[in-house]
Amino acid sequence: MGAITESNIDIDFAGVNVAPPADLDLRPDRLEFGRVTAPLWFRAWYRKGEWERGKIEPWSTINLHPAAIVLHYAQEIFEGLKAYKMPDGSVALFRPEMNAKRMNHTAARMAMPELPEHLFIDGIRALVDCQRKWIPDPPGSLYIRPTMIGTEPCIGVRASSEYLFYVIVLPSGSYFPQVPSGKTGTVRVFVSETVGRAARGGTGDAKAGANYSVTLQVIGMAKKKGCAQVMFLDSHGERTVEEMGGMNVFFLRGDTLVTPPLTGTLLAGITRDSILKLAPTLGIKVREEQINWDELLAGVKSGAVSEAFACGTAAVITGIESFVLENGGEAKVGDGQCGPVTHKLFDALRNIQYGLAKDPFGWVVPV
Ligand code: PLP
Ligand code: COI
Repeated sequence: MGAITESNIDIDFAGVNVAPPADLDLRPDRLEFGRVTAPLWFRAWYRKGEWERGKIEPWSTINLHPAAIVLHYAQEIFEGLKAYKMPDGSVALFRPEMNAKRMNHTAARMAMPELPEHLFIDGIRALVDCQRKWIPDPPGSLYIRPTMIGTEPCIGVRASSEYLFYVIVLPSGSYFPQVPSGKTGTVRVFVSETVGRAARGGTGDAKAGANYSVTLQVIGMAKKKGCAQVMFLDSHGERTVEEMGGMNVFFLRGDTLVTPPLTGTLLAGITRDSILKLAPTLGIKVREEQINWDELLAGVKSGAVSEAFACGTAAVITGIESFVLENGGEAKVGDGQCGPVTHKLFDALRNIQYGLAKDPFGWVVPV
């Protein structure tokens, strides 16, 4: 009992064949994002005020009491990161300590227990290590989904006293089926002017499942209009751009890349942070600033805003072809193709992630 260290993670899958089945095609363009889960998970229970030993074992379905708090009051949080195959055959993670910190930021907001960072990172490392064969070759990667749920059965509105933390891993290619893995591409984006995602003082800067369920209705509507994602404005009527349902957003205005600041209502994306640090090293000016949607739209229409892209672990960097408006209008960004600045950042970021370029920031962590 007590704080978990790498040495007290149990590993037990003796007698279980954890190799990918022979009929599973792991080529990244054959994988639907998030569909295939590798056989092992890392899990740890929090009971009686402390984390118990962590274990790597074949994942199983979870037995929950029908009154479990997660099922009623959505005490569920998660993270997302990836493992990449390097040119020398080794495997690396990208900035996992940022995910560990963000998970704890989210946990605090959702009244959930702090997770020792080494439990998060060591558990993920060991889990990936046991399932190296599940990592698709570049341009694919292994998507890692750490998750925590409140499991105590109680209908009273309060925080659970018991939690399950688990990590599953999923071989993945491109997030957007219309964008081939390892290539830049563009998608149409619906602008949600009336449906909000996060309120001031709410949970917009936390990675809580509840933030995503409130976007599903508008995402469904957007898909019917042929859009792959939704971009949200603030929910207090100022018409400032915030972020997308599952990624942050950047715009190239003149010669400067701009992105909304972290006001508390949007997620502090690790890809966003990496772009803010990487861009100046590539000679690209970058600035965090409040972006008024109506001014931005005018800029898109006039050509002053010539590129736009979404960024996130799953989406990497994906160009925006056009913005589809609630009034039925559509504004194309540039010529609708991925622009040169988007391309440059995509190449630079991926080259670091896949060990094809020097990593001056120390972002790449070997498994
Ligand atoms: N914003 C939201 C709402 C997200 O779900 C994500 C994805 O994790 C991001 C932004 C991008 O964050 P990151 O770059 O850390 O994946
Ligand atoms: C990620 O990029 O890791 C996310 O969690 C976003 C989700 C839409 C897949």
